[in-house]
Amino acid sequence: MSILDRIIGLRRNGVMGLNERNVRLVAELNPRRLMRLVNDKSVTKQLAQEANIPCPELIGLIRGSFGMRNLKDMLDREHGVAIKPANGSQGNGILVIMGPMKGGYRLANGRRILFEDLRFHVMNILSGMYSLGGLPDAALIEERVRFAGVFDQVSFKGVPDIRIIVVKGVPILAMLRLPTADSDGKANLHKGGVGVGLDLTTGVTRDGMQYDAIIDTHPDTANSLSGIQVPHWDEMLMMATRAYEVTGLGYLGADIVIDAEKGPLLLELNARPGLAIQIANRHGLRPHIEPVLNTDTSQMDAAERIAFGQEIYRSVHTEPQPEAA
Ligand SMILES: Nc1ncnc2c1ncn2[C@@H]1O[C@H](COP(=O)(O)OP(=O)(O)O)[C@@H](O)[C@H]1O
Ligand SMILES: [Mg+2]
Repeated sequence: MSILDRIIGLRRNGVMGLNERNVRLVAELNPRRLMRLVNDKSVTKQLAQEANIPCPELIGLIRGSFGMRNLKDMLDREHGVAIKPANGSQGNGILVIMGPMKGGYRLANGRRILFEDLRFHVMNILSGMYSLGGLPDAALIEERVRFAGVFDQVSFKGVPDIRIIVVKGVPILAMLRLPTADSDGKANLHKGGVGVGLDLTTGVTRDGMQYDAIIDTHPDTANSLSGIQVPHWDEMLMMATRAYEVTGLGYLGADIVIDAEKGPLLLELNARPGLAIQIANRHGLRPHIEPVLNTDTSQMDAAERIAFGQEIYRSVHTEPQPEAA
């Protein structure tokens, strides 16, 4: 099927474009003053912790060059760390370090990196190389998440994450994102990660996509992407819907990872989540969103909002699918 055919097919499924997302969702549902709560990952982390939503432990926050003095101590963690720009996005500027090794540190892709190179990387983060608008930034040093074995067959050297889209507190669509050899330990789709649609009612994987093309096996492991049960599914839906209560953002994408010991952890929140989730789910956002926009969700509690989102999902996905062109 050509890309054009696929897009036409998806359009019939209520696919939303960037313009409509920006006007109807971001501008309508996300007041600017609230967006700063999620643009900076250190602020999001603090909010989440206050609300008892578990996150990866923050080892250190480096704000200026004087903060660099403790860098070595922060990096010398047996199980590794992730270094990330506080105001970064799409996986840019993130380095996942497996742990210290002789003469340096081991990166997620297996290569060795010297302390001096990591120092230089952090200085680049501080200078704003990866931040929105190039403004000076802070660097987060975070414990490395060690992912649960369930995704071993379908990931390559990195941590898969689960993206859940939440509209007015109602979770409506979700996908699992898997790292690949291309994506360098990160699960971001722009970095070459694989997106796999999830059944919102059960948390079981469906089919996948990579670089906007539809796939059904993982490009590196060649194992089938569908039929995998994401563990802790109900807990993750609860974390995502509570992220709405904490931030007030009417349109958000919650990124959640599963640590083998700690269970689900909230990585970050996005106030402008991307639209590729529609390709991963072979379904547009519109039919899932429309019923939520037409409903007053303010009187519903978290469990009611989850049930509402699942009911919409069920009704949309049991309707006969239009034939692909
Ligand atoms: N603490 C961590 N441990 C291991 N991998 C991580 C960690 N933090 C991020 N990653 C990897 O990097 C990806 C992007 O991280 P995220 O915090 O969502 O930043 P971004 O805003 O750039 O998407 C995640 O999907 C995950 O694969
Ligand atoms: Mg992310």
